[in-house]
Amino acid sequence: MKKKQLEESVDHLKSKGFDNPEIGIVLGTGLGKLVDEIQNPIVAHYNHIPFFPLATVEFHTGKLVYGSIEGKKVVVMQGRFHLYEGYDFLDITYPIRVMHMLGIKKLFISNAAGAINLDYKKGDMMLISDHINLQGGSPLAFKNVSVFGQRFVDMSEPYDKEMSNKLIDIAKDHGISLKSGVYASVVGPQLETKAEYRMLKILGADAVGMSTVPEVIVANHLDLPIVAVSVLTDECDPDNLEPVNIEEIIAIAEETEPKMVKLFRELIKDL
Ligand code: HPA
Repeated sequence: MKKKQLEESVDHLKSKGFDNPEIGIVLGTGLGKLVDEIQNPIVAHYNHIPFFPLATVEFHTGKLVYGSIEGKKVVVMQGRFHLYEGYDFLDITYPIRVMHMLGIKKLFISNAAGAINLDYKKGDMMLISDHINLQGGSPLAFKNVSVFGQRFVDMSEPYDKEMSNKLIDIAKDHGISLKSGVYASVVGPQLETKAEYRMLKILGADAVGMSTVPEVIVANHLDLPIVAVSVLTDECDPDNLEPVNIEEIIAIAEETEPKMVKLFRELIKDL
């Protein structure tokens, strides 16, 4: 990985007016609407930022939006990069390093995930308390990693307790149901077999998805406090498994989105 390339990406964004954002936000599939809340937005399409990975999957609009929410300067990724699109671990975490170099002090992440814990239902939200990396690699396994930080990054507490507790309080105050649990990341893009769902349950996962963990690992590498929330879009019951389709997953994410926007907005206000 080359620091010069990161610097060029950052210089480009700074020249467009991305001035010292405080909070970085990654919006998952079907969860892009928080950008409508941004005041005085400046938009940078991924394809126009030097050295940024190129956006592919059509339902991701692929842009970085800078502006303010609740009086705080934010930079929001509308659409993220996934391993299943053919990107590698360095590509998918590149934007996290860019947002960090722009100056963010905190990172919020959202995603769509399947419910492994069957007490959790379609349309529930789940605060990620911990994770299991099942993507078969690491975004820190590269030769000059020590130029960017330490190699053996501590993961005893990858999600920030203070922000997570705040989010729990906010959910309570606003009568929004927020579960909590362990997120397992897989590569995808195929969904899981019944046997794989059984395995994930035995491993201790409450939810499964195809993103987030690489970004969280890199944020920990950068000492960036993270809060992450999954929208549960399908119930992964191996004994009564219904075929899912991606349209339905996106539809459930979109239905739940207003609650997610509310949570993130209130957390921004609180920080
Ligand atoms: N498995 C993996 N990823 C997902 C799922 C799932 O069941 N639902 C939404 N994203």
